[in-house]
Amino acid sequence: MTETIAIASDHAGFALKGVLKLELESLGYAPLDLGTHDTASVDYPDYADKLAQAIKAGKAARGVLVCGTGIGISIAANRHREIRAALCQDVTTARLSREHNDANVLVLGGRIVGEEVARECLKAFLATPFAGGRHVGRVAKLAKP
Ligand code: RB5
Repeated sequence: MTETIAIASDHAGFALKGVLKLELESLGYAPLDLGTHDTASVDYPDYADKLAQAIKAGKAARGVLVCGTGIGISIAANRHREIRAALCQDVTTARLSREHNDANVLVLGGRIVGEEVARECLKAFLATPFAGGRHVGRVAKLAKP
């Protein structure tokens, strides 16, 4: 069955979101685009919240967020207990965010990473399983109130 991947950005991440949507489709995923839908200025916390709500509602198990640096939108996403959003600038951290942190949201900076690196990060994030083992208890502590 086709997996839905939620994706959202602010205006500064809009262009890279488009690139990543196409990449998701070419990899056989169904992107759920939660906006923004153009380059008009918006507030990144609103889009982090939209994506977090979609994951909490079970519309997607995983997601991708993009803002200019990736910093603001990852801070906002991680305010939701169910979200483990990993800001990545290279393929190794994208892979380790899955192996060690069981990250459910990949965050990229549209003004920081190039398209090719972003696509490779996305592929690593999607393809890498959680390693479990010693990481299970650590990840569980992240969800403590
Ligand atoms: C928008 O100008 C920019 O501040 C935002 O995309 C992001 O980089 C914030 O962390």
